[in-house]
Amino acid sequence: MFENKGLLRYDIFMSGDKFIIRGGRPLAGEIEIRGSKNAVTKLMIASLLTDEPCVIENVPLTHDTDITVELCEKIGSRVLLDREAHTVKIHTPEVLHPIVPELSRKNRIPVLALGPLLHRSGYAEVPVLGGCPIGHRPINFHIEAFEKMGVEVRRKEQSYFAEAGEIHGAEIEFPFPSVGATENVILAATLAQGRTTIKNAAVEPEIYNLVEMLRLMGAKILWKPEERVVEIDGVNKLHGASVSVIPDRNEAVSFATAALATGGEVWVRGARKEHLKSFLAKADEMGGFVSLTDGGIIFKGKDQYRPLRIETSPHPGFMTDWQQPICVLLTRADGESIIHETVYEDRFGYTADLIRMGAYIEISGECLGFSPCRFASQAANHSVRIRGPVKLYGAAIAMTDIRAGMAHIIAALAAEGESIITGVEHIDRGYEKIEERLGRLGADIKRI
Ligand code: EPU
Repeated sequence: MFENKGLLRYDIFMSGDKFIIRGGRPLAGEIEIRGSKNAVTKLMIASLLTDEPCVIENVPLTHDTDITVELCEKIGSRVLLDREAHTVKIHTPEVLHPIVPELSRKNRIPVLALGPLLHRSGYAEVPVLGGCPIGHRPINFHIEAFEKMGVEVRRKEQSYFAEAGEIHGAEIEFPFPSVGATENVILAATLAQGRTTIKNAAVEPEIYNLVEMLRLMGAKILWKPEERVVEIDGVNKLHGASVSVIPDRNEAVSFATAALATGGEVWVRGARKEHLKSFLAKADEMGGFVSLTDGGIIFKGKDQYRPLRIETSPHPGFMTDWQQPICVLLTRADGESIIHETVYEDRFGYTADLIRMGAYIEISGECLGFSPCRFASQAANHSVRIRGPVKLYGAAIAMTDIRAGMAHIIAALAAEGESIITGVEHIDRGYEKIEERLGRLGADIKRI
């Protein structure tokens, strides 16, 4: 057993909310997962394609939802977010301002509004993207696809300006199956002239949720996930629809991993096996107890696990948003584990804090244990070697992005002693009232 006691950090005096977590308690009970953060925002943007009202159910109350409400209101939508019922009604009879000003907070959603705003107004401007410090995250695929569809996009200092006489269908093949670019083209293609074919499309469940809504609105979309092909035949008009957000598979994995890392037992209600296949296979391989039930999945932990080799990849592969929680869990595996990240080039920054808590993790620019990926020649630290089992100790640590933040929380829950975690605003972007919900599972977590 390696031991390396957590050190003190002084950035805990930074402003903003903090979590204080006293670790070492096995989580137990049941928890219901909320609607998907990465689906709801896209459904809200889809509503801008019609002048009729749309109703979205199972809406998570997160900051990303709030930012998207703000975006819709700025362009002239009437938005009613019912926080009790977790529903949002959006009605955009007219787009009053196709120029979206700087929003109060940033996320990566505004660029997806380009298609709907162009169809409604002929031109549009959206602020440059925000998001997480996990890689360069360019939007060249979006822009190249739009240009093929007859849209002219200009980068200004703080925004993108787009103009189109008529948006027409096109054949588009992405160099990598990008979630955002696939969504952007689907949204723009629904009202375009003629057929758009997307090859090497991303086929994440959240994108299918968007496709479902657009079909209910009258869009003609052929979805062929096995071939990574989406075909859209443009229609003249879309109408209002009512749709439900799918359960958040990232929340499901977060709670599952927290249960396994604390040696607890949690029934994750709403978790869908078909969205989690690659995670469930790994949880099983490492020796975690997984039981599928009606309406959810039970995860039961133990003291020690088998090590794993994981390579992240687009759906249906092991998701990049899952490697952070599972990295914490692998500190409890007996032997050497490897994670090779192939979606983002810079997504292991959080491991520095895990090391300070006692983890033994080596970060590498090589494609450890797997064939070379597109980051092989970029000197990007995109692989880690984790040796266990180790004991984690509470420490003062700082979240830098949403999924890294979940790794921090799980590490603190599993660690001996107290942790103080800053940067809680990252978690609030995508997890609703996380401390209350973990508290109901027996976690000793306080927001200050
Ligand atoms: N890429 C390009 N050019 C582009 C677009 C993407 O090079 O024009 C690259 C990116 O740099 C990255 C890869 O392609 O290396 C994949 O990016 P993708 O476009 O698929 O990601 P995204 O749409 O920006 C969404 C989620 C992410 C999630 C990824 C992958 C939302 C709002 N975000 O991002 O979620 O990790 O897909 O599944 O849906 C999170 O929730 O924490 C999060 C980061």
